[in-house]
Amino acid sequence: MHTLLRTLAAGALTAGLALTGAALAQDYPTKPVTVVVPFSAGGPTDTVARLIAEVMSQDLGQQVVVQNVGGAGGTLGAGQVATAPNDGYTLLVHHIGMATAPTLYRSLPYKPETDFAPIGLITAVPMTLVARKDFEPNTLAELAAYIKANGENVTYAHAGIGSASQLCGMLLMDALDAPMTTVPYQGAGPAMTDIIGGQVDMICDQSTNTTSQIRAGEVKAYAVTSPERLATLPDLPTTAESGLEQVQVTVWHGLYAPAGTDAAIVTRLETALQKAMADATVISRFAELGTTPVTAAEATPDALAKQLASQIALWRGVIEAAGVYAD
Ligand code: MLT
Repeated sequence: MHTLLRTLAAGALTAGLALTGAALAQDYPTKPVTVVVPFSAGGPTDTVARLIAEVMSQDLGQQVVVQNVGGAGGTLGAGQVATAPNDGYTLLVHHIGMATAPTLYRSLPYKPETDFAPIGLITAVPMTLVARKDFEPNTLAELAAYIKANGENVTYAHAGIGSASQLCGMLLMDALDAPMTTVPYQGAGPAMTDIIGGQVDMICDQSTNTTSQIRAGEVKAYAVTSPERLATLPDLPTTAESGLEQVQVTVWHGLYAPAGTDAAIVTRLETALQKAMADATVISRFAELGTTPVTAAEATPDALAKQLASQIALWRGVIEAAGVYAD
């Protein structure tokens, strides 16, 4: 009798928990949702996150609030979300850094493929090689020769080991076989301020953070790292057409929740993300910044999981060959 009661009680508890999970998911969200951006405010990832957060807020009927947690090339903020409650109220917008960190950091405190519930891809942003406006070289060929000749006297800004700007810099230094002096920041936002101010020589940064500065002549631009030229910067050659095809990278971004987040909540967030991808304001603002939202088929958990897995494998080989590690 006693065992039967215990079994019944256990069964009731499980049913109760499932019911609560489903009930919770049904009413989700009932309060504001936080999206962690693992870099400083005002930078490229922040720009992308704030644009989609606006539209997702409208669809979810609750504020989607961006919280900037910079540091350690994005791994600090990502680590914070990996250990956050999986109730749907703490999310992460992160980029290609999710795929490079497992190789760059040999003691990374989280596993990108298992500690997160992917919600969907967002966009893939081309990068641009830019420098302070009074920097001597005028073309990519001149820049390459200048870096080879001056090496560590050239200062290269980046947003920490694990950031996109660090990855692109690593590809450039590897291709030229010429190390520069790297200057880390908590994000590309403050790095760009110092480039414009002339305190640092150069950076490879996302078009979402450089397009308006390039157009305003506040920085000198050398090339874009995408296979094709950008409609927004038609005169800017690609690295490939300038003889540096090894320096090709686009910065894909994704939205994540902590692992174990209820499937119904993940689906609700996927729907809101897809609304943002089809939103006219997001489409036009992304276009002004040299990028596009992904398709509905890409703004899905499955597509993000596949992208993450294939990119971890791709960059492992490149990073190990370059021998650049954070620890
Ligand atoms: C940022 O938002 O600051 C960037 O994504 C930094 C980077 O990865 O280069």
